[in-house]
Amino acid sequence: MAERNKIERMYDTVAKEYSETFSSEHEKKPKDQEILRRFAMELGDKNPVWDFGCGPGQTTQYLQDLGIEISGMDLSERIIEQARTIHPGINFRKGNLLELEFEDDSIGGIVAFYAIVHFTEEQVEIAFREAFRVLQPGGLFLFTYHIGEETIALEAFLGKKIDIDFMFFNTDFIYNCLKEIGFKGIETIEREPYPGVEYQSRRAYVFAEKQACNNPRKRH
Ligand SMILES: C[S@@+](CC[C@H](N)C(=O)[O-])C[C@H]1O[C@@H](n2cnc3c(N)ncnc32)[C@H](O)[C@@H]1O
Repeated sequence: MAERNKIERMYDTVAKEYSETFSSEHEKKPKDQEILRRFAMELGDKNPVWDFGCGPGQTTQYLQDLGIEISGMDLSERIIEQARTIHPGINFRKGNLLELEFEDDSIGGIVAFYAIVHFTEEQVEIAFREAFRVLQPGGLFLFTYHIGEETIALEAFLGKKIDIDFMFFNTDFIYNCLKEIGFKGIETIEREPYPGVEYQSRRAYVFAEKQACNNPRKRH
């Protein structure tokens, strides 16, 4: 299992290279764009909105460009420095998805692209419980993951020597975990990888809601 300081150290180590490699990735991924536009539309004027595990802030910026007032949070100080440099108009801070420093019912929307990729199933559940706790009733959660059963133990990444596990997740596990915690309106959208653009794994985008009483999310 990837413990917190191992993850933090790894992203500190590859912060510059990660940022150079992934900062404009949404341009090459039409499904990312479609999903983020839908998220922005469904959010409406809910606020505040946070990008958790934001990395260099490419998703944060994409949503800001769609008119969403959004901030980013990540475990790695070095990757946050990258995000602040590239996107000086956005607020970024350090934080831990497994122990969110936010009040209950305080956040209108959470996006978390590939933020759970180093978590064990137990940690995924903790992260989802934390997201549920801090979301306002009616708040929206959108996240992504790699679909599968495998764990890849990486010793090198982006030209740097590292030692970390990348976890893939079973869609039923993710769905049941969210449902058990109390999320409603859970919708999983799967896609094939884009050849030549990204690691060749199947991807899932998940929309979920902390439903307000008698007020299910409007579908657009
Ligand atoms: C695969 S990267 C994804 C970054 C960005 N969202 C993207 O799509 O490129 C995973 C990110 O999650 C962050 N992360 C991992 N564990 C975290 C935790 N417990 N709390 C906050 N951020 C975390 C890492 O530092 C890293 O920036």
